Amino acid sequence: MRTMGGRHLRRSVLALLLEAFPESVSGERMACRLQVSRVAVWKVIQSLREEGFPVAASRGGYRLLELPDVFDPDFLEPYLGSAVSGIRVVYENEVDSTNTRLKTLAEEGAPEGTLYIAERQTKGRGRRGRSWFSLPGKSLTFSVLLRPSLPPAACPSITLLAGLSLAQALEDLGFCPELKWPNDVLLGGKKVAGILLEASTDLDMVAFLVLGVGVNVSLERDDLAGLPFQATSLSVEGGQPLPRVAVLRQFLARFFTAYRKWETTGDFTPWIPEYHRRSPFLGHPVTIFLGEDQVSGIARRVDGSGALWIAKGSEEQRIHWGEIG
Ligand code: BTN
Repeated sequence: MRTMGGRHLRRSVLALLLEAFPESVSGERMACRLQVSRVAVWKVIQSLREEGFPVAASRGGYRLLELPDVFDPDFLEPYLGSAVSGIRVVYENEVDSTNTRLKTLAEEGAPEGTLYIAERQTKGRGRRGRSWFSLPGKSLTFSVLLRPSLPPAACPSITLLAGLSLAQALEDLGFCPELKWPNDVLLGGKKVAGILLEASTDLDMVAFLVLGVGVNVSLERDDLAGLPFQATSLSVEGGQPLPRVAVLRQFLARFFTAYRKWETTGDFTPWIPEYHRRSPFLGHPVTIFLGEDQVSGIARRVDGSGALWIAKGSEEQRIHWGEIG
């Protein structure tokens, strides 16, 4: 019989600790499940503890004391896999931008469901050529690769779908977020998360989409003070720390459930009521910035393509892209 060793064993031990969390699992049971000796399990536990994983040992066995807030794929893949299937994690401590890196992997043929996550971005990118501020240990910055069989015209609405999924995930975690078209997520009127969608097309079809998401999880007021817009974080609003991995898992669970339905048509219509319910700017005067230009009117609704309709006197105008000022 071939026995399990090295990386595979480390990953399986982490998966069993997670499966039992917050309870403990005995060394004997782990050894039996993994077909290795109890000493082999013990050695892995020791090295996990040396790496900083919060594992307690007692007569009842081994137990994770808290959810580790780390992006190590051996931990993250089983943790995410229990909520959403088919996620493959690529992790780097420091990158220029997870979107940039994932685009390269996509061009090399990476499959749908590849998640690129980094602790630190040195050139994090926001919409309209802006930079995205993040701090290691306090921010959640990741990108997801999607390969829908749809024409490029369907793409804009997936940004709204991602924003809505993130808002719903934050609600699941006890927050009360709002959406600002097309894809900002706000708490108390301040930006807590942003989404950057980048598309590559092949003739008249989408080749791939890179959906980049940045969430201010544990940034403090001082960290956010220098930003050119009103920003907040989950810990500032919620008053207590939250593991970034819990936010990631809830978002992916919400997003992929919606995405599986969306990718069959590319039509956002089924989600319009839920989007409207979280959009306080509707019914109010807005100014939309379109590069150098701007248009003003009363925000009316979004449509199935992700466009925003605004009323100007008795006329209505459809806005495909831009940003509410
Ligand atoms: C915005 O609101 O302007 C969009 C912000 C998107 C930031 C995320 S962080 C992860 C991914 N990598 C990037 O360089 N940008 C996106």
